[in-house]
Amino acid sequence: MGNQAMPREQLGICAEGNLHSVYLMFNANDGVEDQLRPSIANVAQYIYELTDQYADSAFNGFLGIGANFWDTFYPEARPALLKPFPAMNEGNRDAPAMEYDLFVHIRCDRYDILHLVANEINQMFEDLVELVDEERGFRFMDSRDLTGFVDGTENPKGRQRQQVALVGDEDEDFVSGSYVHVQKYMHNLSKWHRLPLKKQEDIFGRTKVDDIEYESEDKPLTSHTKRVNLKDPQGNTLEILRQSMPYGSIREQGLMFISVCRTPEHFEQMLRSMVHGDGHGNHDHLMQFTKALTGSSFFVPSLDFLTQFDD
Ligand code: HEM
Repeated sequence: MGNQAMPREQLGICAEGNLHSVYLMFNANDGVEDQLRPSIANVAQYIYELTDQYADSAFNGFLGIGANFWDTFYPEARPALLKPFPAMNEGNRDAPAMEYDLFVHIRCDRYDILHLVANEINQMFEDLVELVDEERGFRFMDSRDLTGFVDGTENPKGRQRQQVALVGDEDEDFVSGSYVHVQKYMHNLSKWHRLPLKKQEDIFGRTKVDDIEYESEDKPLTSHTKRVNLKDPQGNTLEILRQSMPYGSIREQGLMFISVCRTPEHFEQMLRSMVHGDGHGNHDHLMQFTKALTGSSFFVPSLDFLTQFDD
């Protein structure tokens, strides 16, 4: 970027965890692109400003553009690595694709504010889009997944979050943007709770109550953390920033898994390792207890990219 100011990232990408979240998936109506572009810019700007206004409640959020719809919205330039969700399947391990045009992700420590803002955003899009899916997430205990295991412990911390999550100079037009993957995982908790504690811990490769990592040699090759802890050919660990939260109600509950990263490749390799395993039959045993219902790929451009189009 030389001496130019860095484009401003959308603040929900690297934000720390919150108590509540709302996920809105929209599809655009036909032929509305010209009106929708300024509307998208306004919504992203609105979310950005609320981050200051509701700083006491740690409000944050971002708006992502679906991989399949990017070219319709912004035909002039495309993020270099943007592609549809890498759907995959082996045995009874399924990672299906379910794409949406727009993803609005807002989080806050006050549920009433989120509810208000979600309605406001829906109004701002007027008749331009259809709301096709909505979920609400919540912090469970001390940031645990509904399986009872702490989720997010090994996430990048501090400024490392930006390093991992935001596109840098490698793609000039899209600096401070992020590749985002979302999978809604529905857990089979009655099956999970029948599993003895030690077997549960073996599945994550960590202890449950204290959240302590197993020694490397004690981690089963089929454990979740073994399957997703990958290295590139130079020996560097592949990293993503996870912004997942539990979601749902009695009827259907699980994890809204959200990966944000400066490249889509890390998520894809991890998912492949979970579903297809290591080539020696070791796939991720966590997948026997949860089922991915959706799989979507988005790019979350910088605020400055989006507001070029606000008329
Ligand atoms: C680690 C839960 C899906 C990538 C973990 C941990 C838990 C967990 C409890 C250990 C604590 C931590 O470091 O956060 C889940 C659940 C999932 C899920 C319940 C789905 C239902 C995924 C997917 C990916 C992924 C789809 C990537 C494709 C990771 C990574 C780590 C991790 C990179 C850190 C591993 C390490 O460095 O030790 N997950 N996860 N997870 N998970 Fe997942």
